Amino acid sequence: MSRIYVTKDLGDVVLAPLGDDFDMWSGDGPVPREVLEAQMRDCVGLLSMLTDRIDEDLLDLAPNLEVVSQMAVGVDNIDVAACRRRGITLGHTPDVLTETVADTAFALLAAIARRLVEASEYVKAGRWGPWEPYTLAGADVHGAVLGIVGMGRIGRAVARRASGFDMEVIYSSRSDAKTPNRRMTLPELLGVADFVVLTVPLNADTRRLIGSQELSLMKSSAFLVNVSRGEVIATDDLVRALEAGEIAGAALDVTDPEPLPRDHPLLALENCIVVPHIASASTSTRMAMGRLAVDNLIAGLAGDALPAEYQEER
Ligand code: GLV
Ligand code: GLV
Repeated sequence: MSRIYVTKDLGDVVLAPLGDDFDMWSGDGPVPREVLEAQMRDCVGLLSMLTDRIDEDLLDLAPNLEVVSQMAVGVDNIDVAACRRRGITLGHTPDVLTETVADTAFALLAAIARRLVEASEYVKAGRWGPWEPYTLAGADVHGAVLGIVGMGRIGRAVARRASGFDMEVIYSSRSDAKTPNRRMTLPELLGVADFVVLTVPLNADTRRLIGSQELSLMKSSAFLVNVSRGEVIATDDLVRALEAGEIAGAALDVTDPEPLPRDHPLLALENCIVVPHIASASTSTRMAMGRLAVDNLIAGLAGDALPAEYQEER
């Protein structure tokens, strides 16, 4: 058994800096819990995915663990406080994915506004008849008010894209983002935004941040885009709001639960786009995340400063 365990085969190119001295899960899907548990006894360094639950029970099995290096920016699957108590160093992969996630947020925003997925399905279903003036007419992106919830690195990257579309950007955030955009409370933002984009990390403050009350504050013409974590939205409330036409539509990269079962009510709605947690999934960005996770692990095990150590949010 090696001292380093990697919970997903990230490929030789990405894992090369680890040399030969590691074990990894190379099966389908996330590493099974019992496999992960068995690896913990001798494990000094763990390279984890967001699908791995790194909780107190797991850490109790890992007396030698020094570094957890997660290949994701979000660490909500990890009991950070429990790691702190044990002196375990925690790495993650911010920055390298920011622009790619913002690209996806914008793609989802445009896709739901202009009904691109619905329109593509319409053509593939053989429904394309003669041109009609109002068929599949949607909403404009340019000139609209974009409300960004959580103006961190990703939120600011979304805001930069919006300027090219002549959008007015407003935001709500725990702290002043020091951008020229207007900061508002969340209820104020929800009342005026044409697009609400969620880029907050998931934590105790943001779990179910958007529920029936918040959805009822949104304009009936407004769209909700989520590239953070599914649990930031109360899913049942969103289903009801979409069914009732309380908001115009939603485009979701993340859902609660994940994966979403095929018969989930969200998937029966025409005004909802769901993609399977792919916001950072360009090949080059996913490889950059893997490389950074490897570099964090190596630095942490050597007792050096991590290129990207996880810091609690401001
Ligand atoms: C993906 O969701 C990430 O947190 O990097
Ligand atoms: C994530 O990296 C964020 O700060 O938005």
